[in-house]
Amino acid sequence: MRKEIPIVSLLLVLPVPVFCIGADWKNFRADANRMEKRIQELSAFGANPEGGVSRIAFSDADVEGRKYIRSLMERAGLKVRVDAAGNIIGHREGRDPNLPVILFGSHIDSVPHGGNYDGDVGVLGALECIEILNQQNFLTAHPLEVIVFSDEEGGLTGSRAVVGELSQEALQLKSHSGKTIGEGIRFIGGDPDNLQSAKRNSSEILAYLELHIEQGGILEAEKINIGVVEGIVGINLWNVSVLGLANHAGTTPMDQRRDALLAAAKLVDSVNHIARSIPGRQVATVGTIQAEPGAPNVIPGKVVMSLEIRDLEKSKIDLVFEKVKKSAEKIAADTGTTISFAALDVTAVPAPTDQRLRKVIQEAATGLGLTTKLMPSGAGHDAQDLARIVPIGMIFVPSVGGISHSPKEFTTPPDIANGASVLMQAILEVDDKGL
Ligand code: HGY
Ligand code: MN
Ligand code: MN
Repeated sequence: MRKEIPIVSLLLVLPVPVFCIGADWKNFRADANRMEKRIQELSAFGANPEGGVSRIAFSDADVEGRKYIRSLMERAGLKVRVDAAGNIIGHREGRDPNLPVILFGSHIDSVPHGGNYDGDVGVLGALECIEILNQQNFLTAHPLEVIVFSDEEGGLTGSRAVVGELSQEALQLKSHSGKTIGEGIRFIGGDPDNLQSAKRNSSEILAYLELHIEQGGILEAEKINIGVVEGIVGINLWNVSVLGLANHAGTTPMDQRRDALLAAAKLVDSVNHIARSIPGRQVATVGTIQAEPGAPNVIPGKVVMSLEIRDLEKSKIDLVFEKVKKSAEKIAADTGTTISFAALDVTAVPAPTDQRLRKVIQEAATGLGLTTKLMPSGAGHDAQDLARIVPIGMIFVPSVGGISHSPKEFTTPPDIANGASVLMQAILEVDDKGL
């Protein structure tokens, strides 16, 4: 008598997974519960007492967080590698290995005293797309790659290497971890002596897509589900040195002082005033300041502080900087100090997103019944480096209270899942129709 073999047994012995390519992918949705669980799990690595994370790049916590993500990638069947810049890349084959990859991801390093969503949502959203495709047994035509960029917060380190622009000079800079960027890259498994191997060619990648929290309050205030990013600001950074004369705080009369901290204070005020007095959305910030020698009874002889200027237009950044320099000359003359500016090699170039990808994202969101708004990004992102070699698209989801770079950062699970669903639909649309 012929014995029937259950279909299930047949599937189990087949050498390759059976993939369904005709499924109606427009019905694919991200799973909010799985994503929330993973946000919580990732938040354990580098957890700070305020409820966020201090998972600065190249720290032990960064390494632990990266291990966790790597394990998720491997469990999802991705072929995982770490490139020479320390970027983690998980590859999923497509039906046609000759097609360029669709690349998507973000970062998991944080600022000191940061939150649990900046970067993490983009990485876990990218992985969520893979999970859903696996569940649906759906094989895309293009290979897919999930990328976790290294050291985003320290100056887009990983993405600069991917576009072949991470200089030897940048490798010598000290990161927040205390290691130089070169040492840090080695610490997380990269090879700073072989950086050119991390460079990707335009022809290898069809598009780069990134899901991210807005980090501002517009989407929440206007009750909009999805931000379609039109462009990402450029960021220029300087070390500012103010030199005066350290002297006795009790015996030096007020009119005979060359107080570096007083000059620095005037400059901080002036930076703010200049950025506000020009029409536009430019921003300028002094975020760090150290006075030396640093004693209550000594007039500060030296101050080192940071100056950061951002705008969508490079010419606007240059204009603000010129005005700040001019103001510094006057302050220096008035206070008997000298003020100098050293540009740091961590510049992020302003980048418009690709018009076609904006449309794909907008239509994907509308197809899911979500509201959208075209908006600029005031935060920097790895996507802005990728823009120099491939078309980029970015999806924003609301940040509660517009708070970011803070343990109070929060995005609701349904909003995160909406963003991941839009990312997935956008990937599948690009896979189906190309660009
Ligand atoms: O600093 C930034 O804009 C970004 O969050 N890395
Ligand atoms: Mn950030
Ligand atoms: Mn980020």
